[in-house]
Amino acid sequence: MAKKTAKGNKGKNKSNQMWGGRFASGPDAIMAKINASIDFDWHLYRQDIAASKAHAAMLAKQGIITADDARKIVHGLDTIQSEIGSGKFKFKRELEDIHMNVESRLAELIGEAAGRLHTARSRNDQVATDFRLWMRDRIDDLHAMLGDYQQALAEKALLHAGTVMPGFTHLQSAQPVTFGHHLLAYVEMAQRDRNRFFDAQVRLNDSPLGAAALAGTSFPIDRHMTAKQLEFDGPMRNSLDAVSSRDFVMETLSAAAITSVHLSRFAEEIVIWTSPQVGMLTLSDKFTSGSSIMPQKRNPDAAELVRAKTGRLIGALNSILVVMKGLPLAYQKDMQEDKEQTIDALSSLALSLDAMTGMVRDMEPDTGRMKAAAGLGYATATDLADWLVRTLKMPFREAHHVTGRIVAKASELGLPLEKLPLADMKKIESRITKDVFGVLSVERSVKSRTSFGGTAPNNVRAQAKKWLNRLENERG
Ligand code: ARG
Repeated sequence: MAKKTAKGNKGKNKSNQMWGGRFASGPDAIMAKINASIDFDWHLYRQDIAASKAHAAMLAKQGIITADDARKIVHGLDTIQSEIGSGKFKFKRELEDIHMNVESRLAELIGEAAGRLHTARSRNDQVATDFRLWMRDRIDDLHAMLGDYQQALAEKALLHAGTVMPGFTHLQSAQPVTFGHHLLAYVEMAQRDRNRFFDAQVRLNDSPLGAAALAGTSFPIDRHMTAKQLEFDGPMRNSLDAVSSRDFVMETLSAAAITSVHLSRFAEEIVIWTSPQVGMLTLSDKFTSGSSIMPQKRNPDAAELVRAKTGRLIGALNSILVVMKGLPLAYQKDMQEDKEQTIDALSSLALSLDAMTGMVRDMEPDTGRMKAAAGLGYATATDLADWLVRTLKMPFREAHHVTGRIVAKASELGLPLEKLPLADMKKIESRITKDVFGVLSVERSVKSRTSFGGTAPNNVRAQAKKWLNRLENERG
């Protein structure tokens, strides 16, 4: 670290004012550009300042710096935080990153005491600390946003617990389900997404601060104290691990990528269901856009973009895995590449979540079309087979075969199952009675699916209520 303050060094030579002691000249413009991370790591400013304040307080308590210096440092850092917060701070690329931008400004504000802040730490433990703190905050945000998303889904599910729609496999009519049941499937996925984030947060919540460059320090620091002040569970036990590990980034991005994939699947359904040919769902002007040439169009852009942003999330996860895979211990500059895509990916996910929550609140199912579509493609054929099993004690395999023949007959005559004359059914299976018509409507079909986790409207209503209670309790 250069002894001179930012001001004092100005004009003497062009080497870095924070570490340029052994450098006679400054970096090439291209070097400065590739080396700087301030364009993205300024996002970590709150965490950087919080960690520096904790470090300064600890240094004073341990008698490594004076209480007066610590007070000046903390005061100066508070000033910087409000300067950055209000957009007054001038970030300088020649100072490379957030750590040195803050420290250099601190020197301008408080003079010599600023130079004592970096005692017994390095940017290596500093950046690892900042990034863990930042990640912890983002996980809190995402956790809450996923809760809002679940709330919107569960509210709509309760409203549509009995709204019949087609259930698909292979995107072919499979069996009727209810719209509420479909929405609650995404509530369940979102809950596992939240748990994955929560797990990642528990595991990342240890403090690297005080690991210094890689080996620890000879100063009598108290890492437990800084860990506590920053609300970490404790200090990381191995200084090399503390500065070298980025599995917390991989783990969080993996949770984020999975969440994004879940959102994308629903977004895809929104795109399909709002197409005029399907017409099961409408979005209002709030979440659609028009075409500059085709006046009739209402495009589901928000859903399409949620679907597309998944690329960034998967890309960021892939990127951090690739960046880390060949790195020997300890810190390597490669690791600076851990941040830009992560910051972008998590803010893209937050935006996607907001957009999905908005679309869920906005979407209106066309219940008539949903019901009509639910009956297409002989979707109650399984109900007919089940009737044969229950009433005629037929083995299911045989019932499946008989039903197949009845479906073929109906299809040949161009009729839905419930319109096929009993006589035609009897020709295939003589024991069938008119009672069979009781199970062939889509409503009867969904009502009968009362097994645990099934789509019967009563089940769905009860589950939606459970979720709404649970989410409300969480909010406390
Ligand atoms: N900007 C750097 C990063 O993000 C901070 C750590 C720099 N450490 C170093 N030894 N050059 O990784």
